[in-house]
Amino acid sequence: MATAVAVDDFGAMAGYNEDVVRRATIATVFWGVIGFTVGVVIALQLAFPALNMGLEWTTFGRLRPLHTSAVIFAFGGNALIATSLYIVQRTCRAPLFGGPVLANFVFWGYQIFIVMAALGYVLGITQGKEYAEPEWYVDLWLTVVWVAYLLVFLGTVLTRKEPHIYVANWFFLAFIVTVAVLHLVNNAAVPVSFTGAKSYTVWSGVQDALTQWWYGHNAVGFFLTAGFLGIMYYFVPKQVGRPVYSYRLSIVHFWSLIFLYIWAGPHHLHYTALPDWAQTLGMTFSVMLWMPSWGGMINGLMTLSGAWHKLRTDPVLKLLVTSIAFYGMSTFEGPVMSIKAVNGLSHYTDWTIGHVHSGALGWVAFVTFGAVYFLVPRLWKRERLYSIRLVNTHFWIATIGIVFYITAMWVSGIMQGLMWRAYDAMGFLEYSFVETVEAMHPYYLIRAAGGVLFLIGALIMVYNVWRTVRGDVRDEKPYGMLA
Ligand code: HEM
Ligand code: HEM
Repeated sequence: MATAVAVDDFGAMAGYNEDVVRRATIATVFWGVIGFTVGVVIALQLAFPALNMGLEWTTFGRLRPLHTSAVIFAFGGNALIATSLYIVQRTCRAPLFGGPVLANFVFWGYQIFIVMAALGYVLGITQGKEYAEPEWYVDLWLTVVWVAYLLVFLGTVLTRKEPHIYVANWFFLAFIVTVAVLHLVNNAAVPVSFTGAKSYTVWSGVQDALTQWWYGHNAVGFFLTAGFLGIMYYFVPKQVGRPVYSYRLSIVHFWSLIFLYIWAGPHHLHYTALPDWAQTLGMTFSVMLWMPSWGGMINGLMTLSGAWHKLRTDPVLKLLVTSIAFYGMSTFEGPVMSIKAVNGLSHYTDWTIGHVHSGALGWVAFVTFGAVYFLVPRLWKRERLYSIRLVNTHFWIATIGIVFYITAMWVSGIMQGLMWRAYDAMGFLEYSFVETVEAMHPYYLIRAAGGVLFLIGALIMVYNVWRTVRGDVRDEKPYGMLA
């Protein structure tokens, strides 16, 4: 059957460090559930403000960054650590550089960073930069951990026994190096208090805004995209059992993506004090980004050519392929939203939130789920997952959840933008702000329902992973077989 795996002792025999990969895989699942739960809570808070509970620690303003950091840095970050360290050893035929001590430092150091950042958010300690909220003491700690991560990864690549560097490693390396540069530049700050953990950024005014969105956009480009493309380029061919469709295209994809992404940040600052030429530059590079993005999507999807029938029997592959489709969709929508005339409508509205979550849930989370289902039986030396059918249940519940989420946000976002700009015959605004908020209420309920479905799917994955680790195998009819 397509989804069963032979017990994989190869890694252990070759002396690869799989302990750290196992830990980071569990951490991915753990933080995923936390992050999705906080997502559901803040979605409900937007629908029912009473859920802020009148306590400073539980307000939307504090829980929102807790959500974004839990899903991006804790869930996404651990997924990237797990997969990059698994892939680099196998594709380089070398154990991790620095041995278990350095690898464990990276893993535990990163978890400490997550906990320090989360505590800061709830206590109201923040430097107020989106996706870079932690104060200077957390930033310094992350810098140390990140340098150790770079050492482990690059050291393994440099001590490889395989002459070729597989393309997934190029994507991971770009992710690690670029995130280091972004982190250092955007967080350059002068601490003004050691006890109150307060600092001021060295950038000011429009330079600060540009630095922040150069960082913010490339957090999307390199954290949520390049790293996860590394996952795609390894796990999709593995799960299909075929080589990547075009290796040449993957190289073109890589270089064009990293060259174009780095310039696109100003599309977050349309119609601001940023000089007009810089806004147009950001827009132009964003529109051009559509091409490499779709090149990558086509490369991922075409890897299935001749093997599309496997989708009928393999729900893990279904998760991976659907993630590529969402990657294509969000990287089509992004360039459209970067066009100034379109952004004039979409900016500040829920359309952005819809775009974010089609990328985040459909692409980032789905490709991660696929990788987790691939890794768990192999890492714990099991013949197969506890239940293939439960993977399918997870897939459908989560997909319906995403559809609820993003369609609700598209409708509410476009409605919101149109209501804000509606004028009557006398030239007065047709709607007061509170009327637009009221109009969005039903969509907030639908979004929250979508979030609950997505969370239920993740809990099903937790159960399946737990039973697989225990070594249980569910007695079930093979999934999708015609017979
Ligand atoms: C159960 C799943 C999820 C739910 C219910 C959820 C819900 C939410 C809500 C309600 C917001 C605030 C929207 C607003 O301010 O109007 C938000 C923001 C955000 N979420 Fe999620 N989320 C989920 C999963 C994820 C995942 C998996 C990721 C990333 C991998 C993610 C990334 C983000 C980001 C980046 C923002 C900030 C968007 C912006 O500022 O434009 N979310 N989410
Ligand atoms: C070709 C690729 C892409 C382009 C050109 C693009 C472009 C854009 C644009 C124009 C915005 C709205 C900016 C604003 O009005 O403030 C935006 C927001 C956003 N996009 Fe994309 N996008 C792309 C792909 C993605 C993907 C794949 C993801 C997620 C995995 C993603 C995550 C986000 C996030 C998190 C935001 C919200 C940032 C914020 O305001 O907090 N984007 N993107």
